Amino acid sequence: MSIEIPEGLTELLQSFTVEVLRKQPEDLLEFALQYFTQLKESQSQGAALSHGTDLPFRHSKGVNFAEEPMQTDSENGDDDDDDDEEEFIAPVISRFSRRASVCAEAYNPDEEDDETEKRIINPKTDDQRHRLQEACKDILLFKNLDQEQMSQVLDAMFEKLVKCGDHIIDQGDDGDNFYVIDRGTYDIYVKVDGAGRCVGCYDNRGSFGELALMYNTPRAATIVATSAGAIWCLDRVTFRRIIVKNNAKKRRMYENFIESLPFLKSLEVSERLKVVDVIDTKAYGDGEQIIAQGDGADSFFIVETGEVKITMKRKSKADAEQNEAVEIARYSRGQYFGELALVTNKPRAASAYAVGSVKCLVMDVQAFERLLGPCMEIMKRNIANYEEQLVALFGTNMDITDPSS
Ligand code: CMP
Ligand code: CMP
Repeated sequence: MSIEIPEGLTELLQSFTVEVLRKQPEDLLEFALQYFTQLKESQSQGAALSHGTDLPFRHSKGVNFAEEPMQTDSENGDDDDDDDEEEFIAPVISRFSRRASVCAEAYNPDEEDDETEKRIINPKTDDQRHRLQEACKDILLFKNLDQEQMSQVLDAMFEKLVKCGDHIIDQGDDGDNFYVIDRGTYDIYVKVDGAGRCVGCYDNRGSFGELALMYNTPRAATIVATSAGAIWCLDRVTFRRIIVKNNAKKRRMYENFIESLPFLKSLEVSERLKVVDVIDTKAYGDGEQIIAQGDGADSFFIVETGEVKITMKRKSKADAEQNEAVEIARYSRGQYFGELALVTNKPRAASAYAVGSVKCLVMDVQAFERLLGPCMEIMKRNIANYEEQLVALFGTNMDITDPSS
């Protein structure tokens, strides 16, 4: 037996569902009653205009169920504009149904609702699109976007060529764009007592300019190109509409865990939320190496699930024949490692391996330096313990904290 689906049913229910997801009403039945009553009224009034389902229904102000860009009388070629109290919107329009996946996002109370949802499309050549995709594939802030959100972000981005010496961002300015590096090198300057101090650099990869857009603050650093290059720019409105909204889900997911970590207790609540914003997650299989002793370091780790084993080999030639790695520590949920090399600016002092399946939260060195300053006292106290532990194990502290060694 085949059941015929009445024409318009799908669109009707889809539009209603979109409005429910968008407005998150407490009383669903009451909302449904209002929605369909309003719709019926709009339809009767709009019948006189008789434009078919692809054109907007008339809708009175104040019961604005849909927040689609308004379609005006003049756009409609309709002269019937003598009632200023009314405007045209589209509660049931199939051509808007592609937005359902975007609207289906959980409501985010942190996010302002005043940004228009206009999709920006900056046309690109095949070569540009290919380079853009390459540049964006490891960008943390893009990691949890769904396909539709990602394609909106890529569409909106535009390329800017830069010359050596160009200031891409000046500290203190308002935030206009978020930037992803296509190519080129860039220095980061932060003012200390009025003088700019170079605190780091980007080398042909990475992104910057997210802070002013995420937290509505002035630019926190100056970024200067130190070679000719190219960057991809994402406008503030699209960044806030998609990236900031999406990030609210991550905050909800990790807020409690980050809040519970004793070594972050010197941070204000708002600073701990910023920690959530910068963390990436990485999974490791049993026995997989997370850190290798002697390697250069660019990240800090917090164990989310599973166990991590820290092992160390003696460096001294006299012990070469017994150069077996010795287990020196084991960490589980809520404990951290990988801070030492970032604090001392030295290679990794030990290796880290997953014991069973492990998930870690990972923070890059820039975020570590920017956000975890207030936690340094606690970390340094622990580093002092490492030295005692190594003296007990190896009879020497292995110079783990001496940057000159
Ligand atoms: P924003 O403040 O929008 O503009 C300057 C950008 O520099 C900032 O976002 C970060 O993306 C980036 N940046 C890199 N290192 C630092 C740092 N140590 N302090 C502040 N901003 C930094
Ligand atoms: P890092 O040197 O960056 O990488 C290896 C990590 O092992 C190190 O940071 C510490 O977080 C951790 N570790 C644990 N115990 C010790 C120890 N006794 N000496 C040095 N590192 C240790």
